Amino acid sequence: MPIEKIVVLEDDPVQRKNLESLLRYRRYDVAAVTSIAAAEEMLGRDQFDLLLADVQLPDGSGIDLLKRLQSKTQRPLTVIMTAFGSIEAAVDCMRDGAFHYLVKPFSAEQLEIILKKAEEFTQLVKVNRYLAGSESNDERYMLIGESAGMARLRETIDRVAQADATVLIQGESGTGKELVARAVFAQSPRVGAPFIRVNCAAVPENLIESEFFGHERGAFTNAFTRREGRFELANKGTILLDEISEVSIQVQAKLLRVLQEQEFERIGSTRTCKVDVRVIATTNRNMEESIERKEFRADLFYRLNVVPIFVTPLRERMEDVPLLAETFRKRFARQHGREVVGISDGCMNLLMSHRWPGNVRELQNVIERAVIMCDKSVWLEPVHLGFGRRADAPLTSSSTSPMAPITVPMASSAPAPSPMAPVFRNPEGASALATLQEIEKRHILATLEHTKGNRTRAAEILQISIRTLRNKLNEYGYKSQGAAASPE
Ligand SMILES: Nc1ncnc2c1ncn2[C@@H]1O[C@H](COP(=O)(O)OP(=O)(O)OP(=O)(O)O)[C@@H](O)[C@H]1O
Ligand SMILES: [Mg+2]
Repeated sequence: MPIEKIVVLEDDPVQRKNLESLLRYRRYDVAAVTSIAAAEEMLGRDQFDLLLADVQLPDGSGIDLLKRLQSKTQRPLTVIMTAFGSIEAAVDCMRDGAFHYLVKPFSAEQLEIILKKAEEFTQLVKVNRYLAGSESNDERYMLIGESAGMARLRETIDRVAQADATVLIQGESGTGKELVARAVFAQSPRVGAPFIRVNCAAVPENLIESEFFGHERGAFTNAFTRREGRFELANKGTILLDEISEVSIQVQAKLLRVLQEQEFERIGSTRTCKVDVRVIATTNRNMEESIERKEFRADLFYRLNVVPIFVTPLRERMEDVPLLAETFRKRFARQHGREVVGISDGCMNLLMSHRWPGNVRELQNVIERAVIMCDKSVWLEPVHLGFGRRADAPLTSSSTSPMAPITVPMASSAPAPSPMAPVFRNPEGASALATLQEIEKRHILATLEHTKGNRTRAAEILQISIRTLRNKLNEYGYKSQGAAASPE
């Protein structure tokens, strides 16, 4: 399958005919030529996967053609067919970029072996080229969570992975459907074969068909070269159709055929491609509703939904939040070069009281932003979460939360700290230093405590305007205890 079009360059009519019929019998598209000029013309006109080239030809040497081809980005694998006795030349030609050589006379079996090697090599190159654009950082694909829901999910994955059946993973956005799909693949017998993902929501409507099934050169405007579709790349492996519900009804019909028959045609081609692919699909839509609204074909749904997996929203497995948050904290601290030592209790309480409409993805984003927002060597605090005012735990002057004001050593009442010693430490982590923002906050709150809540007096001491003080207190979510609040 990876090799389809072959050029045979051989001036001996008998050998050429033999090769042609052998290759045609094996269902390859064969173009036979007798000169280098004709071969070059043929290679310029279409994209070929393999060139079988004789060495001595009427208009030059096959080796020279091989050398010239090396400068081209689109070039076929080249197998040099050399006469008996010139093995050294054959080895040399491998150095010049040949994929392999055949010493004449060769048998059909010898040719078969070379073809098989070329097929395997081409498939690998194609898959690697595709994978080069995607990342495969294992850590990122680990499913984290110890809740009962996650335990059940892991059990399901274990069971489903072994069967070769089609899987439909449903769940809200950000719950980890893609991770589940990768886990199914990683535990399946197909793990050694390609895992190819198509994000159906990200591919423009007019290109999705070509993305799935590929196209021939010239099949439509801008189709300058032949291109394999993702189903071909995934042959023998697994394809993940992410956000399958975003595919148009027309393309759904074609997908149904691949699922039923495991075959399709490239756009602009009449040749039917057979593939052996395991399909995993995901959706964050309610499929019953989509079917009712005639946006999704019921027959395709049933075909996909052979094994359904539901991933529960994060709010229904809140026990997972601490472990997830800690994992993300460590990961992003490392990634952004921050020495964030932990998550404060106040911060964790806030994380536990959030509803997480964006599920794990939202939690991940919140923690990454918090890690970036907090300066070196601190704990993540509520203020770093960026939840807005609502997110800050309502502070009072008598609060005992980690953000509570602490008594500030005033110049008159405490010994001056050594110039090299940091003045403030985070209350939770002896080794963690507080951020400037945090020091300011604690200092303001401590001054207010000192003035017994008198804001005018506090503003005077701090040498800031009463408006600035008010804005800062609003930012902290500070609620005065009423007692000695000064009129504003
Ligand atoms: N259990 C988990 N453990 C670790 N990371 C997770 C977990 N669940 C989700 N994530 C992370 O959250 C992010 C979103 O996950 P994923 O892309 O799998 O969600 P999804 O359900 O496919 O979302 P969407 O429907 O929006 O495509 C990813 O970065 C993923 O690594
Ligand atoms: Mg997804």
